[in-house]
Amino acid sequence: MDRDRLLGELNEFLRIPSVSTLPAHNTDCRRAAEWVGAELQRLGCSDVQYLGSETHPVVWGKGPAVPDAPTLLIYGHYDVQPPDPLAEWVTPPFEPTVRDGKLYARGAADDKGQVFCLLKAIAALPKAPVNFRFLIEGEEEYGSKVLFDLLKREPERVRADVVLVADMSYVAPDWPAVYTTLRGLAYAEITVRTSKTDLHSGEYGGAAPNAHEELCRLLGRLKSEDGKINIPGFYGPVQRPSKAELAAWKKLPFKEKDFLTKRVQGKGLVGLKKYSVLERLWALPTFEIHGILGGFTGEGAKTVIPAQATAKVSMRLVPNQKLATVEKQLAAAVKRFAPKHITATVRFLHGAGPAQIKLNSPAFDLLAKAFKEVTGRGSIPARAGGSIPVVPALASAGAPVILTGIGLPDDRLHAPNEKLDLKQLWDGIEVFKRFYELLGSLESGVRSRG
Ligand code: BES
Ligand code: MN
Ligand code: MN
Repeated sequence: MDRDRLLGELNEFLRIPSVSTLPAHNTDCRRAAEWVGAELQRLGCSDVQYLGSETHPVVWGKGPAVPDAPTLLIYGHYDVQPPDPLAEWVTPPFEPTVRDGKLYARGAADDKGQVFCLLKAIAALPKAPVNFRFLIEGEEEYGSKVLFDLLKREPERVRADVVLVADMSYVAPDWPAVYTTLRGLAYAEITVRTSKTDLHSGEYGGAAPNAHEELCRLLGRLKSEDGKINIPGFYGPVQRPSKAELAAWKKLPFKEKDFLTKRVQGKGLVGLKKYSVLERLWALPTFEIHGILGGFTGEGAKTVIPAQATAKVSMRLVPNQKLATVEKQLAAAVKRFAPKHITATVRFLHGAGPAQIKLNSPAFDLLAKAFKEVTGRGSIPARAGGSIPVVPALASAGAPVILTGIGLPDDRLHAPNEKLDLKQLWDGIEVFKRFYELLGSLESGVRSRG
């Protein structure tokens, strides 16, 4: 494996600022799609297609036919989250830089570096052992609408014996994982309007309502200080993990204290104290405020009563919660908690249902075997707090969906100084190369179980 050449190629991919949520980067997203497409062609895909017209295309590829071998669908995404706050990056987000064995760049771990890993593991094989299919999308970080529409029109695109998604991390260094759940997501803007226009805070202050103040109170009602979300009905379908699962989590190399001091790097943790931190992260729903807009935020001072304020919020959903229900519950709660003298509206931007995967296919054992051979430890079951909107759709045709990854928990996804440890990448290429070989030698009778 020529590591210098591979690193050069990955850097090329990472230098493309394919931020899917910002229209200013539309052509960059297209360039990233084409980078993936060219790579698929080099892997022997004869018909590479760019699908979905409105926005960032889904790159579809079909590898060389391998008669009697299973079909493996590889899913990933070439889009990335916005890089701000830029000032906090030690080196610029789209100028990949290696420091101390780690590659720093937006997308290094989420998900370009991992897509790269899966593809280069194929390139490292003497010949394809399975029938490869590829769906590499460019809107995962913005809700995957293009891919959802595509799969609705052409559900046969997900037809495969096994689906592989590497968009996650090990549970801890040296502990590779395979995930049994992902949380869903409902993203919304809550807007409060209190008057026709902004008002002089001296002339009107004391009697006129203030949009920011009303919005803060409303948000405070939706979730209280103890971490409880007060949206009526919200927790109804939530189920606790089994005793066995909770016991297994206790054996994971996860210490609440280290989570606070090394990862959060704050002064204390919050949330529903009667549940363990892992249960709060993996098996309970959330309500988060991402940003608040409106009023005066410029330099200096301005004495004004804002007429309007908007909060960007999202809720993470756990298995059994339904996206449409939760959206209705939030809208109803906002209506109920808003006092008569304000107008409060909710607009939903995008959403995804939670995913639940049963590890009942031999493919999961093959992955564990590949990890064990390369890293010394097999992949162990865990849950994930994040979301990948399209996973339930990928699972809908009945194929086992393998959710795994080569990142580490401290990769700083979506944050400044995102990184990927290069050892994880080099090991990962060996792991997936081995996994493809093992899958290729799977007998067809075994294959179709589960
Ligand atoms: N790769 C992440 C999802 C992830 C992160 C799963 C960590 C498990 C652990 C993915 O790219 C992501 O960030 N998804 C978004 C989806 C959303 C914008 C619809 C997320 O989770 O916020
Ligand atoms: Mn991702
Ligand atoms: Mn992401």
